[in-house]
Amino acid sequence: MFAIKADGLVKRFGSVTAVDGISLEVYPGEIFGFLGPNGAGKTTTINMLCTLLEPTEGTASVGGFDCQREPSKVRQSIGIVFQDTTLDKDLTARENLVFHAYLYAVPRREIAGRVDDALHFMEIYDRRDDLVKRFSGGMKRRLEVARGMIHRPRVLFLDEPTLGLDPQSRNNLWEAIIRLPQEHGVTVFMTTHYMEEAEVCDSIAIIDKGRVIARGSPSELKAQLGGDALYLRTKDNARAQEVLREKLSLDVKEQNGELVVTSCSGEGCVPDIIKALPDMVLSVRTQQPSLNDVFLDLTGKAIRDEELEGMDTIRHEIRAHRRKQSR
Ligand SMILES: Nc1ncnc2c1ncn2[C@@H]1O[C@H](COP(=O)(O)OP(=O)(O)O)[C@@H](O)[C@H]1O
Ligand SMILES: [Mg+2]
Repeated sequence: MFAIKADGLVKRFGSVTAVDGISLEVYPGEIFGFLGPNGAGKTTTINMLCTLLEPTEGTASVGGFDCQREPSKVRQSIGIVFQDTTLDKDLTARENLVFHAYLYAVPRREIAGRVDDALHFMEIYDRRDDLVKRFSGGMKRRLEVARGMIHRPRVLFLDEPTLGLDPQSRNNLWEAIIRLPQEHGVTVFMTTHYMEEAEVCDSIAIIDKGRVIARGSPSELKAQLGGDALYLRTKDNARAQEVLREKLSLDVKEQNGELVVTSCSGEGCVPDIIKALPDMVLSVRTQQPSLNDVFLDLTGKAIRDEELEGMDTIRHEIRAHRRKQSR
């Protein structure tokens, strides 16, 4: 059984089609990344899966319950961290969690223990009695994740959880997110427009203009590009692009002043390219394709991709964590 399944979800707001026929399946215990640029329809999809929005067309189930026929069961099975914070700033961290536990009818004698566990897990226990209005953005996010877990959901939805956080806070949050499936038996569905974060997910769907344009694990998606991507600087990109298309039938795109060729086998086609562009090539480099190259290849445009300092550390830690798990 899937933790989440969507079949042909459509959402129209008047003449705007925000979500245009999305189907996906998420396995239990996965970290599933929903990756796409701003305005792609990520939040609208999450809202339909969380039963906050009625789909215009299509069906979905979460935790084995039908989103339209059993919305209250779906709501009991999920935790949500919204794109914008919904904490009560005039309460302490602990009070926010206790309040949530009451809302979800957590058995009274379990509340204190669960709240403490969640605060420890997200490493904000020391700040439990501070007012949320004194919290940094990163701490608020961690508190929201803690809150999302209090009622032991099967699926946790995170909508752009690291948006606007500094590298250090992002790192801390990621360290916690990747431990959730293993240590809390929860399936994570998260949206992001950061390619580097999607790399860390077990499985991703790339979404653009309300449609899923690619699905798979990050390595599967990158493998579709068939080897390393080639980056060229030339004296005349427009002209060079034309020549490479005509003479070598290569698929060429321009990004940040460089031509990107993803359709040839990396260094293998460098000599042909140089020959086809006599006196025009200023520099050539090859690079393992990123998910950004996948997006570029599929849509012809780059996803807005901010500098992500610190992501190397995160990747390193995640790999170490996975090694430990598989032992
Ligand atoms: N309530 C609404 N009414 C009208 N248009 C909306 C509404 N919510 C979202 N949209 C539009 O739907 C599209 C997708 O939005 P959204 O799901 O928020 O994208 P994302 O989360 O990927 O940035 C956008 O063009 C947005 O302007
Ligand atoms: Mg959004």
